[in-house]
Amino acid sequence: MKNTVNTFREAKKNGEKLTMLTAYDYSTAKLIDEAGVNSILVGDSLGNVILGYEDTVSVTVEDMIHHGAAVARGAKNALVVIDMPFMSYQTSVYDALVNAGRLMKEGRGNAVKLEGGKEVCPQIKAITDAGIPVCAHLGMTPQSINAFGGFKVQCKTEETARKLIEDAKAVEEAGAFAVVLECVPTKLAELITKEINIPTIGIGAGAGCDGQVLVYQDMLGMFSDFTPKFVKKFANVGEVMKEAFKQYIEEVSNGTFPEEKHGYKIDEEVLKSL
Ligand code: KIV
Repeated sequence: MKNTVNTFREAKKNGEKLTMLTAYDYSTAKLIDEAGVNSILVGDSLGNVILGYEDTVSVTVEDMIHHGAAVARGAKNALVVIDMPFMSYQTSVYDALVNAGRLMKEGRGNAVKLEGGKEVCPQIKAITDAGIPVCAHLGMTPQSINAFGGFKVQCKTEETARKLIEDAKAVEEAGAFAVVLECVPTKLAELITKEINIPTIGIGAGAGCDGQVLVYQDMLGMFSDFTPKFVKKFANVGEVMKEAFKQYIEEVSNGTFPEEKHGYKIDEEVLKSL
């Protein structure tokens, strides 16, 4: 059955954990969808893990549409959430509305995600008023890496922790259907989860959140540039891939691949007539 924002609402009410994983292409989305995840996030982390940028700042609306549409074609049951990239919503409510609309119409998402608290509440309200579900994103917000001066755990002081609680309440009030909490101390994420009525989806925010999200290359051991502490490697797919690539190179080099069974036959008579 298709997961919707109602699935998220019901899960929070019933205390059921929600699962979210990133995907950026059709075949991976299909595998994740078939595994039964609630939601697929077409994260702007594609800047790092797909496009090889140092951060997510350079990702464009066109990039998100291109990858979003591929994921949407592979996701039958998962709720597809597409990230609004840097400067596609911060500039004005109008820009936010236009770009969220493009991610839905051209990217075929079921919802959009954007980073920030009180300062982006007018955008969240306008987008949700237009009938587009919005997932908020608080704590370590990678689009602001230049302001943070690096990837760090956020909200450890009383002042910043209080601001995070206020932001979580504000995005709920503005209409967000869920909020991602990234790199937030476990106890603080637990407190926020109790204080708000929309699901919290944690990444480096502990087990007290209503759900969890991970970048699939991280959890499969396919991305070695940087592995944050909160990542659990559920498999070592990177090594498996590398071994298979090596074996392919060897077999092509020594002539053991392809075998006869991998080829196509032609009638001997046709061959003779050539
Ligand atoms: O872009 C992304 O993958 C994300 C997750 C880390 C939550 O925003």
